[in-house]
Amino acid sequence: MGWPHLAMAMIDPGDYVLVPDPGYPIYEHGVMIAGGSIYPMPLLEENGYLPKLSEIPVEVLHKTKMMIISYPGNPVTALASKESFEEVVEFAKKYNILVIHDFAYSELIYDGNPQISFMSVTGAKEVGIEFNSLSKTFNMAGCRIGYAVGNEEALRILASFKSNIDYGVFYPIQMAAVTALTSDYNVLREQVKEYEKRRDVLIAGLEKGGWKVAKSPATMFVWAKIPSGWTSRQFAFKLIEKAGVAVVPGDAFGTQGEGYVRMALVQSPERLVKAAEKIQNFLQEAAVVTKE
Ligand SMILES: Cc1ncc(COP(=O)(O)O)c(C=O)c1O
Repeated sequence: MGWPHLAMAMIDPGDYVLVPDPGYPIYEHGVMIAGGSIYPMPLLEENGYLPKLSEIPVEVLHKTKMMIISYPGNPVTALASKESFEEVVEFAKKYNILVIHDFAYSELIYDGNPQISFMSVTGAKEVGIEFNSLSKTFNMAGCRIGYAVGNEEALRILASFKSNIDYGVFYPIQMAAVTALTSDYNVLREQVKEYEKRRDVLIAGLEKGGWKVAKSPATMFVWAKIPSGWTSRQFAFKLIEKAGVAVVPGDAFGTQGEGYVRMALVQSPERLVKAAEKIQNFLQEAAVVTKE
């Protein structure tokens, strides 16, 4: 993704960037590399995982150059409505902020939920850009190919910076990307069904063990609130030690991730059923074992 490059090209010391908390760690790291300051926007379940824009201090907003959002995102899998994107556009205009929408999971949306690009909202092109990647949709992780659309000036700056850093993606990868983007998208429907199946078997298995976890509307992740009495790290470390199942502690994505773990749907349904069984056993045993 080109975010760190955009930050390096546009952010100066003293500039603030609003980043989601929890959020994909690279957002924060990009700001750090560029020497900017971070203002984390809490994404809370009770607010539908949308930032409360009115709660950001005006002194911060006057120093803010950019904000990053991602719907659906990683680790928070929530979707945004068109109205909430419209609110972001208004806010960005008011405070002269460039909005970066990370749409890496644009094609992994389940249960017939709407697929809403930030760019589909009136005025978004004036205030923002949207990144997408072929890593997830077309299983091209490692190929380092994606694209950005939107505000002309921001794209010009990004292109100019990138032409000095990573210009010239290996030609066969470019051709593979062209083939992917112009291919029959029915293939993607099959992929979505497969991820939906993985999500459903995992969540059903966890529920059998008494752990009720919210159904992800999108992405290859499950963002699960952990049973009470544990920190995210205690839970994740004990789970791998006792059950051999790896999950990421939520606080790795920001302080608001505490109390959650992220599970990845990157194994077959059969393997996820086994993982859920192991988690069920772990939870039963954990109920009588004291936690460290
Ligand atoms: C939300 C989000 N954005 C961007 C990326 C990066 O994708 P790429 O492989 O294009 O760098 C990831 C990868 O995990 C991601 O989860």
